[in-house]
Amino acid sequence: MIRSQIVGCGAYLPKRIITNDEMTRIVDTTDEWIVARTGIRQRHIAADGEFTSDLAIEAAERTLASAGVEANEIDLIVLATATPDNTFPATAVKVQARLGITRGAAFDVQAVCSGFVYALAVADNFIRCGQVGTALVIGAETFSRILDWKDRSTCVLFGDGAGAVLLRAVETDVPNGARCVLSTHLHSDGRQHDLLFVDGGPSSTQTVGQLRMSGRDVFRHAVGLLSGAVDEALAANGLSADDIDWLVPHQANKRIIDAMARKLKVSTDKMICTIDRHANTSAASIPLALAEAAGDGRIRPGQLVVIEGMGGGFTWASAAIRW
Ligand code: UT7
Repeated sequence: MIRSQIVGCGAYLPKRIITNDEMTRIVDTTDEWIVARTGIRQRHIAADGEFTSDLAIEAAERTLASAGVEANEIDLIVLATATPDNTFPATAVKVQARLGITRGAAFDVQAVCSGFVYALAVADNFIRCGQVGTALVIGAETFSRILDWKDRSTCVLFGDGAGAVLLRAVETDVPNGARCVLSTHLHSDGRQHDLLFVDGGPSSTQTVGQLRMSGRDVFRHAVGLLSGAVDEALAANGLSADDIDWLVPHQANKRIIDAMARKLKVSTDKMICTIDRHANTSAASIPLALAEAAGDGRIRPGQLVVIEGMGGGFTWASAAIRW
């Protein structure tokens, strides 16, 4: 059997940090409100002229360095983003070019905050069916560019960043025992598309548009969908919540993360939480958290890591990984 092993990960955050106190000079808000309602204390914001592809390439290079793999060994790049540099070409091909790769394939996946799990699932399936041997999976966003900086209910929530993992094909007879991506589960339900969306686009308004969210409604759906996706990942592998070493959730709101931990009966000690420093970086939030926790030695080889995300669409997804 062919499975995908995570052989490297890396991340990049733009240098500029905007604290909650600085946000109070932009909109009518307070540090107390933002921390109490979301857990966010600061966010990183891309510099003028710094694009999603720039963040992605930094994360990609760090990922390749962590794996000790040369760029020319990559067969496939799947990049998750809702904030591409341009409508087309895909941001993934800009990354491919800057890595100096002229073979294989590169394309973007758009599932907003679930995007990284979707991209991982796509790459994992390419590897499982034997079509590629080495795949780079990136989540990269510059959400600061699609925020309405006059809308306090959304602009305080998001940040910019990028993270990536490198997958390599491994042969195994016992996939559940091997260090590999054990399973991925993807879902969408377009009926709620107007609870979290961007009010522009090339076909509709010929403008980029800005993010609009009915936060309370999204919150109401989030905990059930996310804990359901984690249960699904565990059941598919004959595992229980007690088997989880690390739960790495999409970082949208600390209250969502804590509510999910309670529902799943997973200790918050087993959750990787970066929302206080990164805010919500959409498709980048999970690989940013993975890179941080693998980099500082919390996530160790052989441990069971479950990732999950939920976002506009709605889309929601989970993956179980033996690290
Ligand atoms: O990543 C994709 C998925 N996204 C999510 O999962 C986000 C889900 N939603 C949320 O995280 C939360 O709903 C928010 C953080 C967006 C909002 O928290 P909430 O507890 O649901 O607040 P709310 O929207 O019910 O607003 C409560 C009050 C309102 O005032 P009134 O109507 O009660 O007087 C808002 O106007 O808080 C007010 N408010 C603010 N006050 C200070 C909203 N934004 C702010 C703000 N500063 N930035």
